[in-house]
Amino acid sequence: MTIDERANTDGNAIEDLMPPGTRVVDGRLVLGGRYASELADTFDTPALIIDEAALRARARRYADGLRSRWPNSRVVWASKSLPCTAIYRIMGAEGLGVDVAGGGELVMALAGGVDPARLVLHGNAKTDTELTMALEAGVGTIVIDNLDDVARLERLATREQGVLIRVIPDVETATHDAIATGHQNSKFGLSIPEARTLIDRLRGSARLRLDGLHAHIGSQILDVEPFARAVEAIATLGSFDVYDLGGGLGARYTYDDHPPSIEAYLDTLTDAARAFLPASARLLIEPGRSMIAETGVTIYRVVSVKRGASRTFVAVDGGMGDNLEVSLYGQRFEATMADRVGGGDDYTVVGRHCESGDQLIDSVPLVEPAVGDVLAVAVTGAYCLTMANNYNGALRPPIVLVKDGEARLALRRESYDDLLRRDA
Ligand SMILES: Cc1ncc(COP(=O)(O)O)c(C=O)c1O
Repeated sequence: MTIDERANTDGNAIEDLMPPGTRVVDGRLVLGGRYASELADTFDTPALIIDEAALRARARRYADGLRSRWPNSRVVWASKSLPCTAIYRIMGAEGLGVDVAGGGELVMALAGGVDPARLVLHGNAKTDTELTMALEAGVGTIVIDNLDDVARLERLATREQGVLIRVIPDVETATHDAIATGHQNSKFGLSIPEARTLIDRLRGSARLRLDGLHAHIGSQILDVEPFARAVEAIATLGSFDVYDLGGGLGARYTYDDHPPSIEAYLDTLTDAARAFLPASARLLIEPGRSMIAETGVTIYRVVSVKRGASRTFVAVDGGMGDNLEVSLYGQRFEATMADRVGGGDDYTVVGRHCESGDQLIDSVPLVEPAVGDVLAVAVTGAYCLTMANNYNGALRPPIVLVKDGEARLALRRESYDDLLRRDA
């Protein structure tokens, strides 16, 4: 079985949730050819370990899969899922375009050597400064979210600029409210009637070249059908050269999650495109979570094991400072002791931050967790580093890339000096 084929397995062992290529040797977790507990010794904890081979394989699986179904197309990685210069470099080198939301992601994409022509700039509140940065950098596509974007761009652009209009397709999705974006009254994009009016207006614009439409209906979507409905909805706005169908495919966080495969998702999108969009259209897609999540594992060290009234707490040296997915969306994660993989009794894994809500996993089987042991939490590649913060002066974790038995630091851990550096 190749790495590609192993992704999205339905297996119920913790290593089935780890990056493809993960092994268990003598009960010890091996990520990218390195013992997880040795990575903890080398790079300290908490640390986000990204399996580079798994990431590259996934990028290729997406790119080849889309190209083979719809040759006039490009995969544009949604970089909000793991904004780190080294990851931009990898995705750019794999030939992907990159979606950047705002000036910070733009700076990292450029530092990572991504061709500006392949960048797609998003944001529902893009400032003059950010738009100027994008125009000066030569960003290929700017996605218009609102009429203020149009006013700003018409004022700031000095030459022709390709734009898409972000459309609210009015499609409900069964995901957490905080990450649903395709419904009426979403803060992102314009309704279909508003988009229709703007299309007419942009056709007369001197500098803004309307290439097409964009729709993104939300994240962690575990059913393909809403994606097809979104395509059908935006098709009612007429024929365009480009359709950017956003991201949103869910990742497999738990044994009970069974997200559609990348191939099933691409089949759905391209079948819908064949049914509703012009055959000559260029298709873009913007996967983030489904590209990155399953390639990452966070390692922590156990700091305390404490028996509560009805459960036993395993407190680790991270928490909501490096993983807000739990407290923001109620996302469930799975974990294992790095050197005693699988099975065990149920424990509650909590973080080190001053909130009772700082609970990483409500109840998870672990084998004899003890102070100093390494705990590995699976499927933390996407949106964890993104939302990492300094709550209680926590230092944001490093990113370590592992591949073929080699481990290299891609982003160093924040230092206490970093915390003081911005003092004015
Ligand atoms: C415009 C846009 N495109 C793509 C994505 C990526 O979504 P996901 O990470 O769920 O694939 C997002 C994230 O919400 C987004 O806002």
